[in-house]
Amino acid sequence: MRIHQIRLTNFRNFSDAVVTFGERRNLILGRNAQGKTNLLEAIHILGVGRSHRERREANLVKFGETFYRIEGVFFDKSVRNVIEVAYSEQRKRIRINAKEARPVDLIGFAGVVISSPEDIALVKGAPGVRRLFLDVAISQIRREYLRSLQRYVRVLDQRNKLLKQAQLSGQMPSDISVWNTKLVEIGAAIVRLRLEYLEEIEKDVESNFQKISRTRGKVGLIYKPKGYDVDSDVDSLEAVESLMADALTSLLEAEVRRGYTLIGPHVDDFCFKVDGRDLRLFGSEGEQRTAVLAIRCAEAQEMKAKRGAPIVLLDDVFAELDDERSRALTALISEFDQIILTSSRGVSLGDEAARIIEISDGRIVRNG
Ligand SMILES: Nc1ncnc2c1ncn2[C@@H]1O[C@H](COP(=O)(O)OP(=O)(O)OP(=O)(O)O)[C@@H](O)[C@H]1O
Ligand SMILES: [Mg+2]
Repeated sequence: MRIHQIRLTNFRNFSDAVVTFGERRNLILGRNAQGKTNLLEAIHILGVGRSHRERREANLVKFGETFYRIEGVFFDKSVRNVIEVAYSEQRKRIRINAKEARPVDLIGFAGVVISSPEDIALVKGAPGVRRLFLDVAISQIRREYLRSLQRYVRVLDQRNKLLKQAQLSGQMPSDISVWNTKLVEIGAAIVRLRLEYLEEIEKDVESNFQKISRTRGKVGLIYKPKGYDVDSDVDSLEAVESLMADALTSLLEAEVRRGYTLIGPHVDDFCFKVDGRDLRLFGSEGEQRTAVLAIRCAEAQEMKAKRGAPIVLLDDVFAELDDERSRALTALISEFDQIILTSSRGVSLGDEAARIIEISDGRIVRNG
């Protein structure tokens, strides 16, 4: 799907703004702190139901106001869809084509991929950042992943309650095995899909990385479960299940002592290696930037292959790249369909003409 138009009401520094997008190249221009990232953030919210950089909805409401509303008009070929996300009185309301919807209904509906300066945390940040990347990326292309995640959260919650009770009472939980079975069954399905996803995008990530950096670095995306190891011979769901089950058995006492579940996809991680070396520990700033761009482009390529072209949101992606890397990135993104890119100075998006959207202090001062 592509986005045709967006209307922002009391969102961040926008009081009331309407922007119309071109079908392919869109360039959002403006000096620092004018609202460029805020606009991308709003599109991202319509795509996956949440901001890419802010967890607290209240912070998205324009200072001094009580609600925000984002309304977007999308086209799937010639079919028109309207998505609305509104927030007031600590409640978020979502409508798809005027029908009340849940946040999960949004995920994968429009299809978006965002690359932003915050992404450096994909290499340098805490494991939760990388889990969120996997969850959003896979959920948008595989419905069953999203369903498993929802079920997993409920099972985890129940199991943690039991462990907490056991911790307080000092008695081993008697009915834990039922929850172990469920945790392993759903957890392993999630882990398996993550392994599959990383394996699928690895070649694209490598090729993107090599193109942008003009090197021949071998890239590895290595999934790192907590509490057990998976290596290349773990190629079935059953294999993951049995590894998880064994780990759970040996950890029960420790879990009772701590009062919560110690292994499972909610604590796993993955790392990014170039020529066998962990980029988090050994990568230069430029290499790390290049790596996350390579991953985001691969996410978009995979989405295009599996569910249709995403709306590609690129926030300041050229800012810290040297000229050669910038040119290589321009060539790489030329394969995407709709691109919305921000910059505080003019940039070239290749040969195609871009629609210019200029923002000044939360107002659209030029649109096309
Ligand atoms: N809830 C809010 N209400 C009002 N203004 C806000 C709110 N949240 C953020 N802002 C303001 O929005 C302004 C624009 O932010 P934004 O991140 O979009 O800037 P930008 O154009 O991307 O700038 P840069 O080029 O520096 O990245 C900032 O000055 C910020 O203070
Ligand atoms: Mg910005």
